[in-house]
Amino acid sequence: MSARVAVPKEVTAGERRVALVPATVAKLTGRGVEVVIAAGAGAGSFFPDDEYAASGARLVETAAELLRDADVIVKVQPPVPEETELLHAGQVLVCFMDPGHGLERVAALRDRGVTAFALELVPRITRAQSMDALSSQASIAGYRAVLMAASGLGRFFPMLTTPAGTIRPARVLVLGAGVAGLQAIATARRLGAMVSAYDVRPAAREQVESLGAKFVSLDLDASASGGYARALTADEQERQSALVGEHVAGSDAIVTTAAIPGRRAPVLITEEMVGRMRPGSVLVDLAAESGGNCELTRPGETVERGGVTVFGPLNVPSLLPVNASETYARNILDFLGLLIDDGALAPRWDDEIVTASLLTRDGVVVHEPTRAALDEFAVAPAKHHERDDRPGGDAKEAP
Ligand SMILES: NC(=O)c1ccc[n+]([C@@H]2O[C@H](COP(=O)([O-])OP(=O)(O)OC[C@H]3O[C@@H](n4cnc5c(N)ncnc54)[C@H](O)[C@@H]3O)[C@@H](O)[C@H]2O)c1
Repeated sequence: MSARVAVPKEVTAGERRVALVPATVAKLTGRGVEVVIAAGAGAGSFFPDDEYAASGARLVETAAELLRDADVIVKVQPPVPEETELLHAGQVLVCFMDPGHGLERVAALRDRGVTAFALELVPRITRAQSMDALSSQASIAGYRAVLMAASGLGRFFPMLTTPAGTIRPARVLVLGAGVAGLQAIATARRLGAMVSAYDVRPAAREQVESLGAKFVSLDLDASASGGYARALTADEQERQSALVGEHVAGSDAIVTTAAIPGRRAPVLITEEMVGRMRPGSVLVDLAAESGGNCELTRPGETVERGGVTVFGPLNVPSLLPVNASETYARNILDFLGLLIDDGALAPRWDDEIVTASLLTRDGVVVHEPTRAALDEFAVAPAKHHERDDRPGGDAKEAP
């Protein structure tokens, strides 16, 4: 029997992306998969209903109708409670799940018997690269952050020689040279800026330099598994602070992307450092969602201090919804290749990508760190309530 894949319209405020675009729908229907999509689901990313219909999708009007008989539900954002209530045992859900900040949501999916996959948990192995939604979206955020910085800055990025004099290029500093940071470096370089970048993983040096930027480093290695970084010790943080402070003051624009999985983002730029920047400089904090790399960052807001503008944008990929949806849809399509065989639902339960990204199944939270966090919640609810569970909250024990 052919699997039925459902695509809801995203309901989270500000979310413009959609989980499948018409081109990926056509690929799925071509493989014998049935696709149903909520009317208007692609509107935020400029994919009209008639293109979905032409690609073989069936359009439905209500979420209840959409989800009732679906075998697999693909989304961008984690489900809101109203969506979770419409799900039933045996259904497969694939989306970003932010498990560390949504324990109640995970518990609800568990209790409803939903088989939930979290795209954040897809392992960073070569075979999974085309399913790596964190990377596809981070790259978009890095690009967009530089455009934000360039349009907020009161000066050119490139060096210009004009009859009215020579204009020096803007000095751009990128903190965190992972996926978002590298795209930020490449974009700032394309705009002609002089770029320096800092990371705590020595492996980033070669990548930074190959993009024509200068690598700033401390003599340390904070690499952790999967290409991620570990948190620094107090002593390392002190040295980091001195180094970063030195570079911050001389920068016209700063893009920060430093993150440590499951933790609050490290604070790299203090209020005092911002105070040493020239008026008119800008800082775009891509880590705003997980608390921010700058002390002054207010998630979702723009703050001005001494003439320096600090942007704390949220959900940046959604600001480029066309390409964000296209690349996300491609990630989903390839992930579904592990769950659907010959048009029918047949998850490869022994595949390491499937096992690593599985969050809940048959009434059990399968992902160990999330289960441990839930157990703690069940044992000591008061403590859980004290935890800052907002995006960016200090959920240290989160997976
Ligand atoms: N399939 C794969 O093999 C694969 C896929 C994606 C990423 N990766 C690797 O993982 C790396 C990082 O991935 P990411 O961008 O998703 O990571 P991330 O979003 O968790 O972190 C962003 C960057 O912040 C850096 N960082 C952490 N603490 C810092 C600090 N105190 N100061 C400065 N920088 C700090 C990290 O080292 C990382 O480069 C990539 O650059 C790549 O090398 C591998």
